Amino acid sequence: MEKNILLGVTGSIASYKACDLVGMFRKKGFTVRCVMTRDAKWFVTPLALETLSGQTVYRDMFKLPEKRDTVHISLVEEADVILVAPATADIIGKVASGICDELLTCTICAADCPVIFAPAMNDKMYTNPIVQDKIEYLKGKGYHFIDPVEGHLACGRSGIGHIAPLEKIIDKTEKVLSARI
Ligand SMILES: Cc1cc2nc3c(=O)[nH]c(=O)nc-3n(C[C@H](O)[C@H](O)[C@H](O)COP(=O)(O)O)c2cc1C
Repeated sequence: MEKNILLGVTGSIASYKACDLVGMFRKKGFTVRCVMTRDAKWFVTPLALETLSGQTVYRDMFKLPEKRDTVHISLVEEADVILVAPATADIIGKVASGICDELLTCTICAADCPVIFAPAMNDKMYTNPIVQDKIEYLKGKGYHFIDPVEGHLACGRSGIGHIAPLEKIIDKTEKVLSARI
């Protein structure tokens, strides 16, 4: 049966990689619905994600698309897995703190399917003890993480925080999905 991936896209310099992920998942036969945070728009356009996914891109809880009343609940009901890629320090901190201030945070809070985060951020952010504490806290609550790798960072340096290779993200998502069957 066709599986539905809800792809959360956040405001990271790595957000453009979400476009590649959408294409790669679709090639494998998945349906991908994207939810963008408010700040994701600075890095990737809704039009690009909509075109690549062939689905409406969701961004605003208060501007309802046709036939959907509580969009965060409808999205959760349709999703087999939620993948947040890239995941900012901000989204990780918000989810760990139970903050529900926009569509993606509300959707994750309401999720009864597995949720996977693929963090991407500067090494100074990633190694911040508060960020690490939030990651450990979420892991303890059953959230999945695909750890970032050492690599070239937007600031020009190399360090830990580069989003994991997309193949690894896809592989982990498939494993999480199959463990659920
Ligand atoms: C050029 C630029 C690049 C950024 N890249 C990242 C990033 O890779 N990871 C991250 O956690 N935050 C990054 N930020 C900060 C986030 O965009 C900021 O925390 C934002 O509020 C995140 O919102 P969101 O989590 O709701 O998408 C970046 C900011 C700028 C200006």
